[in-house]
Amino acid sequence: MPKKNIALVTGAGGGIGAGIAKTLAGDGFTVICVDKDANKVEQISKSIPGSHWFALDVTKESEIVALRDSLAKSIGNPTHLVNSAGIFFEHNLLTFTEEEFDLMMNVNIKGMFFMCKAFIPAMVTTGKGNVINIASTAGLRGGRNRPIYSASKGAVVLFTRSIAIDFGPKGVRANTVAPGLIDTPMASWLSDDKEALAKWEKTIAAQRIGTPDDIGKAVSYLASDASSFVFGETLVVDGGGMA
Ligand SMILES: NC(=O)c1ccc[n+]([C@@H]2O[C@H](COP(=O)([O-])OP(=O)(O)OC[C@H]3O[C@@H](n4cnc5c(N)ncnc54)[C@H](O)[C@@H]3O)[C@@H](O)[C@H]2O)c1
Repeated sequence: MPKKNIALVTGAGGGIGAGIAKTLAGDGFTVICVDKDANKVEQISKSIPGSHWFALDVTKESEIVALRDSLAKSIGNPTHLVNSAGIFFEHNLLTFTEEEFDLMMNVNIKGMFFMCKAFIPAMVTTGKGNVINIASTAGLRGGRNRPIYSASKGAVVLFTRSIAIDFGPKGVRANTVAPGLIDTPMASWLSDDKEALAKWEKTIAAQRIGTPDDIGKAVSYLASDASSFVFGETLVVDGGGMA
């Protein structure tokens, strides 16, 4: 792979984003790790040879534009964009506040919009680009105690399908990965209770919780030419939970 392939991964300080960053680095990408949490993303980047890291809040368009402009003059324009930054906490519709609604929507979908708006133009200029957005099986079906999270992830799925239609003809592919339960801090609502986790694991085909590596491999496929005819797809990686 030519060294020119540059993958920017948001949420790279978190479990899934770090797994994706490591896998893509192994595939030969120059990886740019981005996260709001500077300490976490610095640690992850240090464990990935040749990678770079930047602290950035995906809900702040000005920070994204500043990073885009500085990358263009230094490392180069990302050829691949993976949006993994996201937040989840269980909630009840009747007690959820407007501030909480705005926070969840801003991080999970508005941030993705800002990132795509900033980084797709350079991909269009070269006629080659690849966007992979991380949704969730919660965006494909309803679930308990997560109405606004589900809405935000459902938005990711249709946002991605639509940009695949708009930018596919310009050489930019866009696809979604929809993880099921993956063993990261975000899954602690279930994984902290070992008994409940073991019971849950028995209900799915794979009989286990997923790993960040499982998602890294799915992203690796979508980032590669092996998926060159795949546009606007939602790749469910959930151990058969939706089967
Ligand atoms: N873990 C799961 O079971 C699971 C399942 C389905 C989907 N997902 C999705 O996968 C993605 C990654 O989740 P994870 O499990 O790695 O969670 P995580 O909490 O380990 O990582 C999320 C990362 O996003 C970063 N982040 C949060 N807000 C940000 C902001 N405003 N700007 C920049 N970075 C920000 C956090 O600092 C964190 O490092 C999320 O979009 C999540 O919704 C996770």
